[in-house]
Amino acid sequence: MEKKFKRTLITTALPYANGPVHIGHLAGVYVPADIYARYLRMRGEDVVMVGGSDEHGVPITIKAREEGVTPQDIVDRYHKIIKDAMAELGISFDVYSRTTSDIHRKTASDFFKKLYDEGKFEQQTSLQPYDAQAGEFLADRYVMGTCPHCGSDRAYGDQCEACGSSLNATDLIDPHSRLTSAPVTMRETSHWYLPLNKWEDALRKWILEGHKEWKTNVYGQCKSWLDLGLQPRAVSRDLNWGVPVPVEGAEGKVLYVWFDAPIGYISNTKEILPDSWARYWKDPESRIINFIGKDNIVFHCIVFPAMLMAYGDGYQLPDNVPANEFLNLEGDKISTSRNWAVWLHEYLRDFPGKQDVLRYVLTANAPETKDNDFTWADFQARNNNELVAILGNFVNRAVVLTQKYFEGKVRRVAADRRAADG
Ligand code: 2FM
Ligand code: ZN
Repeated sequence: MEKKFKRTLITTALPYANGPVHIGHLAGVYVPADIYARYLRMRGEDVVMVGGSDEHGVPITIKAREEGVTPQDIVDRYHKIIKDAMAELGISFDVYSRTTSDIHRKTASDFFKKLYDEGKFEQQTSLQPYDAQAGEFLADRYVMGTCPHCGSDRAYGDQCEACGSSLNATDLIDPHSRLTSAPVTMRETSHWYLPLNKWEDALRKWILEGHKEWKTNVYGQCKSWLDLGLQPRAVSRDLNWGVPVPVEGAEGKVLYVWFDAPIGYISNTKEILPDSWARYWKDPESRIINFIGKDNIVFHCIVFPAMLMAYGDGYQLPDNVPANEFLNLEGDKISTSRNWAVWLHEYLRDFPGKQDVLRYVLTANAPETKDNDFTWADFQARNNNELVAILGNFVNRAVVLTQKYFEGKVRRVAADRRAADG
């Protein structure tokens, strides 16, 4: 028997505010989450859907450097574009906030501090990529090089976008700095690590035994991570943009963006429900559903749950993490840096009033179990053949015939009538 829940918290991956959102974001996360939230609300269920912009981390600082403006300028610009476009598309967030908000910075900082005070982190000194010319450590995407797996020469210090491998900067062949193009050198620095290895058994039990019903892509990725064995993971960075590490002697260090971003789901719930937010997070009769894209699986199924387990205090783990695959555009991978995308705010400008057409096409062609392709020819065909010809014709006939034979009145169906007659 399926367990009955009293309320549902739907979270949607927080998009980086380093650019507008595109159809890949919509098909992967926001449209399916919105459909589910609307469905539950129609059933009269208690549901809250939270979202917001992810405004920290290297994606933001890189964009700011490229444009010669501050990270704050970047996030102010894109947060507004994203928030307005999502509202115009009709994504029915109960709150769409941002990770530079005071409430988020405090929530994330307090979360770290409690884990730190309780000795849940390990402090480790290690060699990290450094740009001697710029005199700066090179966090994650500041390092670029050749992917050891697929040979792409545009792989980053944390991930290769071409083949999807998760990387360390030291894995790259010929790593160089994106600040100055200088070859990367290594320098000692100290960071706090979450010992994922200590949570491995609990995660294994929770996911592999307890959530066999999860989508196969999600379950499979979790199983490969767990079978490889988990390692401690750094949760701080040498960067001047982010939530400062709230510990003495940590000047110049901020929380790793993947530490603070998922805490954003908590801060956003607090922001709209200052008195009752905990009911959605800590009551076993509530359930949490995380809508994400496939590149976020490890963070939502392994890292954030380990953070919540370490924190304790009644926090519940997600009941499900429906991750979609990717949507390509005209046969090619969508890419913000190559400007290969259909941007939502541009679509809304170019197709005024046609929100539902886009929502329909992205739903009919949703990348639920495999990567799918969006093409303008398919968009046109679905609009003309399915929405206009089939649905439009059906509605037109139903209305004309209702007018002709039933004086334009819709009669109650029999079961409905019996119920009304008692
Ligand atoms: O991949 C991304 O775009 C991330 N900004 C998603 C963060 S989801 C969450 F944890 F906030
Ligand atoms: Zn690769």
